[in-house]
Amino acid sequence: MASFLALCFLLLPGVLSVAPTCPDRCDCQHAQHLLCANRGLRAVPRAQLPKQADILVFSLAGNFIQNITASDFSRLDGLIRLDLQYNQIRKIHPKAFEKLSKLQELYLGNNLISVISPGTLQSLNKLKILYGNSNDIKEIKPDCFGNLGSIIKLRLDGNSIEKLPDAVFKSLPNLMYLHLESNKLRYIHRNAFINLTNLRFLNLSGNKQKSIRNILTFASLPSLTTLLVSENEIQHIGNHVFQNLKKLLKLSLSNNKISQVELGALKGLSNVRELLMDGNELVHIRSGVLDPLERVEEIDFSRNRIYSVEPSAFTQLQHLKILKLEKNQLTSLSGGIFALNGVLYNLYLNGNNWTCDCNILEFKQWMNTAHSQGRLLTVFVQCQHPDALKGRYLDYLNSTQLLYQGNNSQPCGSDSPVESLAGGLLESAFPRKELNIQADQGGVGQTKKPHAEKNKRKSVVPRSGSPTSAAGKTDTGRVVSSSRLGFPLVTDPCQFNRHFIVNVTVSQVSSNSATITWSVREHRSAPASAVSFRVLFDRFGQAVRFPRFVYVRDGGHSVTLHELSVDTTYMVCVEGLVGGAVCQVASRDHCTGVVTLGTVRSGADLQLVTMAMLGVNALLLLLVGGAWMGRRLRRRLQHRKSAVHVRHMYSTRRPFRAMAPAVASDFTSYQSSRPRMCPVDEGDLIEFPCDRFLDNNSTRRDEALQRFTD
Ligand SMILES: *[C@@H]1O[C@H](CO)[C@@H](O)[C@H](O)[C@H]1NC(C)=O
Ligand SMILES: *[C@@H]1O[C@H](CO)[C@@H](O)[C@H](O)[C@H]1NC(C)=O
Ligand SMILES: *[C@@H]1O[C@H](CO)[C@@H](O)[C@H](O)[C@H]1NC(C)=O
Ligand SMILES: *[C@@H]1O[C@H](CO)[C@@H](O)[C@H](O)[C@H]1NC(C)=O
Ligand SMILES: *[C@@H]1O[C@H](CO)[C@@H](O)[C@H](O)[C@H]1NC(C)=O
Ligand SMILES: *[C@@H]1O[C@H](CO)[C@@H](O)[C@H](O)[C@H]1NC(C)=O
Ligand SMILES: *[C@@H]1O[C@H](CO)[C@@H](O)[C@H](O)[C@H]1NC(C)=O
Repeated sequence: MASFLALCFLLLPGVLSVAPTCPDRCDCQHAQHLLCANRGLRAVPRAQLPKQADILVFSLAGNFIQNITASDFSRLDGLIRLDLQYNQIRKIHPKAFEKLSKLQELYLGNNLISVISPGTLQSLNKLKILYGNSNDIKEIKPDCFGNLGSIIKLRLDGNSIEKLPDAVFKSLPNLMYLHLESNKLRYIHRNAFINLTNLRFLNLSGNKQKSIRNILTFASLPSLTTLLVSENEIQHIGNHVFQNLKKLLKLSLSNNKISQVELGALKGLSNVRELLMDGNELVHIRSGVLDPLERVEEIDFSRNRIYSVEPSAFTQLQHLKILKLEKNQLTSLSGGIFALNGVLYNLYLNGNNWTCDCNILEFKQWMNTAHSQGRLLTVFVQCQHPDALKGRYLDYLNSTQLLYQGNNSQPCGSDSPVESLAGGLLESAFPRKELNIQADQGGVGQTKKPHAEKNKRKSVVPRSGSPTSAAGKTDTGRVVSSSRLGFPLVTDPCQFNRHFIVNVTVSQVSSNSATITWSVREHRSAPASAVSFRVLFDRFGQAVRFPRFVYVRDGGHSVTLHELSVDTTYMVCVEGLVGGAVCQVASRDHCTGVVTLGTVRSGADLQLVTMAMLGVNALLLLLVGGAWMGRRLRRRLQHRKSAVHVRHMYSTRRPFRAMAPAVASDFTSYQSSRPRMCPVDEGDLIEFPCDRFLDNNSTRRDEALQRFTD
């Protein structure tokens, strides 16, 4: 022992310089703070300071103290904060804290305490924060907290508490944060939370709850905003169990075994913004269950076993922005299922059992429309069935494929199938909140005077509705006409960008100019919707928007950009104007990079940059996310690594088409020589070389850095 102490002493030279009255090995440089954390102490040191009552903070964390005796703190009656965390405390004398009537914060976490004798905390009536987390407490009773009326935050997580008895927190009316996660709570008395009228936050995750059934359990928590009950064993959520949680903003039931949610289970949760039910055993989402969630913005149903969702399940959720349904067993969704979710922009659907036949056609059309209006981020729907389409993305399938490949002996549409080369070019087919689709008239594809029939609730096509009529009658809508009439008719600039502009190339690059050339696929356009082009360009990685663009009238297919800066990287994108309108989402498909020549290196080869992917990414982010995303992107590009995280937002559509062949092959070989650092689970996604900026040995990286740091 003596040698141990000596050793510690030697290791802590700074200690020698402190006032002689300071306890051995502690730091008393601040007159009112006694800091003895991490000093190898085995007992609470005796302070010999003249004015002990002036000490406000006493830190003893990270020592080897086992016992707290009655006299340890008996002369420190002015103490406001006492930190005893990370010791080996088993026993606390019932009178240990008797004199600490001014104490506001007591940290006892990460010790070996199994019992706090009644009365130990009796005199702490000013206490606001009590940490008892990560101990070995098995039981708590109302009298533990007898006089702690001021407590605001109580941590009891990481213990072995098995039950919460009647009114156990009744004397804590000011409590706002209660941590009970990672215990063994099996039984919670229906009145356990009584009198917690100010409680905002309750974490019950990581316990052993098997169901939530009792209406009273959460009924006395009117101020609760966050309720976390993930990682339990809950199978069943009863009716009205949350009905008094009028202020609740976040409810997490993730990673339970929930297979049954009563129709009225979510009643009363009118303020909830976030509902997490991922990792459960749900199989079916009924309409009506979610209706009480009037203000919900994010719902996570991923990793369940959902195979069906009723078409009107989401119709009341006007504020829904993010919906996660990934890793379920959905085969199809009804075409109008999200028609009334006007602000939905992020939809996670990958990892389902998508069956790409005519049943999903309307849904695909909805998706295409939402994309083309810039309302929706890219959604990955990878077909699993039929075999012929397995692994393909719904986005790329044309309706002919959906209609005939579904191993239906009969194609779904009996008369001529809709030629939806672009997948439903239905301008304003979904006017927000005025959508009307009726199974009997069969018209996702139809724009039916939206003002005439207002917002009927039951207007969504049921999945079982006849797809035949749905597909058959759309020819009255503003749909691209059939190729039987010659070349496809173009009406929508987004679709035009996506499908008709090809072969964007750069040539004649000098130090201040470059020529951009592109081709256009054969098409028809109505006289009123003549096609012309514009070329956007900007220094790469700099602006939030594209401030510069050049219009190319009269059907020209090339343009020379002048007055570019010397030795600078530009991103250049070509997009179409159809009838004077441009796509609200910038073209992600037809961008390319140009590096103007430097003056010193005049005569050097032209430098085309292998940065189409970055360009694609930047554009998408800029336009979709606005300034916020733009800022993040730039930050990401500055810290190169994080480019990886935006991988899922890439357009997967032929992103390299616009590049010169030499560059493209260069890029390909570059890519294939790299280890696959970021596995992509979607078959034909273009993999972004995520390690590109991380490889310290690569000279290529340095070049890239210089190039991209504008
Ligand atoms: C703590 O108390 C227990 C029993 O009261 C005793 O056996 C043990 O030696 C004490 N530990 C120290 C370090 O004083
Ligand atoms: C609940 O708190 C109120 C004061 O806020 C008190 O009067 C009442 O006795 C408490 N209830 C219980 C069961 O202790
Ligand atoms: C709630 O408890 C869970 C399980 O221990 C934990 O993972 C989570 O971080 C906690 N949440 C908060 C906000 O404390
Ligand atoms: C997936 O869907 C097909 C029908 O399209 C069905 O035959 C198959 O059983 C489904 N698989 C699973 C795992 O649900
Ligand atoms: C639909 O796709 C199939 C297969 O790729 C193709 O043969 C067919 O021509 C396409 N139809 C139209 C109208 O593009
Ligand atoms: C298509 O359907 C027939 C019977 O209708 C069945 O025998 C055949 O196996 C199916 N093919 C595929 C690829 O599902
Ligand atoms: C685009 O380029 C490819 C190969 O260079 C060529 O086969 C194709 O015809 C071009 N497309 C158009 C529309 O010019």
